[in-house]
Amino acid sequence: MPHAQLLADYSLRPHNTFGFDVRARHAMRIDSVDAAAALANDARIIDMPKLVLGGGSNVVLTHDFDGVALIVGIMGKRVVGEDDDAWLVEAGAGENWHDFVAWTLAHGMPGLENLALIPGTVGAAPIQNIGAYGLEMGERFERLHAVELATGAHAEFDRDACAFGYRDSFFKREGRGRYIITSVVFRLLKAWTPRADYADVARALEGASARDAQAIFDAVIAVRRAKLPDWTVLGNAGSFFKNPVVSADAFESLQAREPGVVSYRQADGQVKLAAGWLIDRCGWKGRGIGGAAVHERQALVLVNRGNATGAEVIELAEAIKRDVLARFGVELEMEPVCL
Ligand code: EPU
Repeated sequence: MPHAQLLADYSLRPHNTFGFDVRARHAMRIDSVDAAAALANDARIIDMPKLVLGGGSNVVLTHDFDGVALIVGIMGKRVVGEDDDAWLVEAGAGENWHDFVAWTLAHGMPGLENLALIPGTVGAAPIQNIGAYGLEMGERFERLHAVELATGAHAEFDRDACAFGYRDSFFKREGRGRYIITSVVFRLLKAWTPRADYADVARALEGASARDAQAIFDAVIAVRRAKLPDWTVLGNAGSFFKNPVVSADAFESLQAREPGVVSYRQADGQVKLAAGWLIDRCGWKGRGIGGAAVHERQALVLVNRGNATGAEVIELAEAIKRDVLARFGVELEMEPVCL
């Protein structure tokens, strides 16, 4: 297997949805599992730091990268198994997530419709366990295939090994930077049931003639378009912070002071708070630092007004964190990965 072409002084602007104009000293496009496995014995890059990039929709690039950026372009979508209960569907890591969701629906295999229009690639989806409108990817996940960067060894991870949590997995923690995910297999149940409880989606469905998977897909797209900025127009990385989870006691004392606080009781008794509401309440909506700003319709989304740097976005995020901590005693945690 010949090694992939090594590109020099490569702009990462098209590979991060914030649109930051940072450069990588080197880059390689990884278009096959073999090319991923060959990296471990490629003498040209063996000692270089490596950065695996899919769609770059959950990363903040704060400076040029003195290493090799690995742009994953492994394609392919296919049904790899079927039993009485479900279809097993596999997609290459480089496939666009939304196109894959649309493809599953077009082929009569619903189950991912709540995750329509999430930016990024299939291979990035498990890293932060993408979720929206009442569904997390981990609930439809069967297994994934990966290559260990240091050895080139093939690895398979089942759901337990991925240790999915809320916007979290093994690949954001112990596994960070160690693997290239090459493909992901989903289990889509034949006995489909709608997830349409999320208030915005339920409202968007009111006028719809059906309540099938296609209707939910269309409703989710409409809700996202109304609230979230299109990264091709206004650079962003979706929610910039996780919704923080606090103890029941902490929540009660907060609610006594701030009766309007938006919250969701968790199964374990703890309470998840809407970080967008906390930030909004601190008066940040529409405000910014330099080219970085808080989105006007969704305070949880930080945007690049055109000429922002990653450092400005981080500076803005720190200022927001300080305000939310001072006012509510709540610590916000960043959702995207910061380089
Ligand atoms: N809110 C405000 N002001 C704001 C923003 C939100 O008051 O500026 C309040 C709203 O009233 C609403 C509540 O906060 O009642 C929650 O807002 P929203 O429904 O927009 O959802 P979110 O909690 O802000 C989460 C996910 C999104 C996901 C949506 C829908 C996280 C960190 N974010 O946002 O995921 O699309 O729910 O399920 O969990 C992402 O992770 O990148 C992402 C976009």
